[in-house]
Amino acid sequence: MDLNLAGKVALVIASSQGLGKAVAAQLVEEGAHVMITSRDEVKLQAVQEELEQIGKGKVAYYRADITNVDDVKALVKQTNELFGKIDILINNAGGPPGGGFEKFADEDWQKAFELNLLSYVRVIREVLPDLKKEGGRIINIASSSIKTPIPDLILSNTFRTGIVGLSKSLAEELAPYNILVNIVAPGRIATDRVAFLDQLKADKLNLSKEEVVEQSKTTIPLGRYGQPEEFAKVVVFLASDANSYVTGSSILVDGGMVKAI
Ligand SMILES: NC(=O)c1ccc[n+]([C@@H]2O[C@H](COP(=O)([O-])OP(=O)(O)OC[C@H]3O[C@@H](n4cnc5c(N)ncnc54)[C@H](OP(=O)(O)O)[C@@H]3O)[C@@H](O)[C@H]2O)c1
Repeated sequence: MDLNLAGKVALVIASSQGLGKAVAAQLVEEGAHVMITSRDEVKLQAVQEELEQIGKGKVAYYRADITNVDDVKALVKQTNELFGKIDILINNAGGPPGGGFEKFADEDWQKAFELNLLSYVRVIREVLPDLKKEGGRIINIASSSIKTPIPDLILSNTFRTGIVGLSKSLAEELAPYNILVNIVAPGRIATDRVAFLDQLKADKLNLSKEEVVEQSKTTIPLGRYGQPEEFAKVVVFLASDANSYVTGSSILVDGGMVKAI
């Protein structure tokens, strides 16, 4: 199977660590040129150096807070100036705080909306003129909460489902331009975010983090957490020319965890 990613340009949002970084690495591995971005210049520089060692696609970084519209505009402009085009957008963001309904005031809801839904809209808006030229791929990273709510993560449960409505609508609107729009939804992929949430749960239940992890694994038919690279491979397929007919789909990468049909 030819992914035909060599020489393609990908903008990977929220890529200083975790899932975004893993996706960026797999794209570089396939010869794509990648712009990585997050709020932390020091981390970005280290990731750029690491990914450049792969020795295939070029890697650039630009510091941006994706909740800031001016940062988003500058990021896309910089990507264009450096690479001349954008073929692939991977939308991603940090997770919202954990908690149930009564924990959060309007300002928490507003912040989560801006981080986990509005940022996706804004980045797509800026990148669209590029993608419309020759077609392209948009992958929106969401969560298994698009299929079944996760206890104590009401902000995620609410705004990730918004990504589904957005993506399904865009899959139809952008199909005439050969822009394919899909969602990849992680279950429990071993990143800092998941370790942090496991620790929170452990503290709440008065258990050790290891006990929480063991309990959590029993809910996953494959019996383990996923690795970021396993998640990234699915994203990279959807972002490639090998995917020519999947659009408007939500793909779970969860080891079978979600039981919804
Ligand atoms: N891992 C999983 O199994 C899993 C499951 C369900 C959902 N998810 C969701 O998938 C997303 C990625 O997960 P992850 O595990 O890779 O999370 P992570 O390890 O916490 O990484 C989050 C990334 O987002 C960046 N970021 C956060 N706020 C930002 C902002 N305002 N502007 C720009 N960049 C920002 C962080 O970079 P800086 O701190 O350097 O800015 C970091 O690179 C999260 O939304 C998470 O909730 C993950």
